[in-house]
Amino acid sequence: MTATIESPRSGKNSSGKISPQYRRTGASRGNFEMLAWLFMRLSGVVLVVLIFGHLFVNLLVGDGIHAIDFGFVAGKWADPFWQVWDLAMLWLAMLHGTNGVRTIINDYAENDSTRLWLKIVLYAATTVIIVLGTLVIFTFNPCPVVDGVQLPGGFCPA
Ligand code: HEM
Repeated sequence: MTATIESPRSGKNSSGKISPQYRRTGASRGNFEMLAWLFMRLSGVVLVVLIFGHLFVNLLVGDGIHAIDFGFVAGKWADPFWQVWDLAMLWLAMLHGTNGVRTIINDYAENDSTRLWLKIVLYAATTVIIVLGTLVIFTFNPCPVVDGVQLPGGFCPA
């Protein structure tokens, strides 16, 4: 059995314009949607480099996947180059993914309040993940000292 998903906001009139029941606002949103469209293309190109670079370095170089452990991550985040690389990957993937899902919500959620709530949840999740991820990248400490006691970690100075 196959399921068919109708084209979003179908029901265009003969001249190809969206029919009145699917029209949401007459107000112009300026260049925002055009810039969002452009951002998806540009961030997509940069993400290809960031993601495949990330996979290559983590999974193929040296001992590859067998080298991945806590110390491997600690080593990478001790280097500002990888901090900036991972920060760019986090921000671009989150903003790209969020904008993509925003488009899908706009296309498929027909009820005004459903659309509003889905987007509130989406933006809240995005904000939490970007803020937490950014904090982790820049505040990560592989050798924490708690109450004067060095927590175990083979590579930490005694
Ligand atoms: C590997 C590099 C990537 C490239 C080249 C890329 C490219 C694109 C492009 C060009 C679009 C726009 C499609 C359209 O408007 O019809 C798009 C949409 C989207 N992307 Fe990516 N993307 C990449 C990675 C990602 C990642 C990592 C995520 C998730 C975090 C993601 C999530 C999405 C979503 C949710 C959409 C909306 C899908 C839709 O409109 O049907 N993409 N992507």
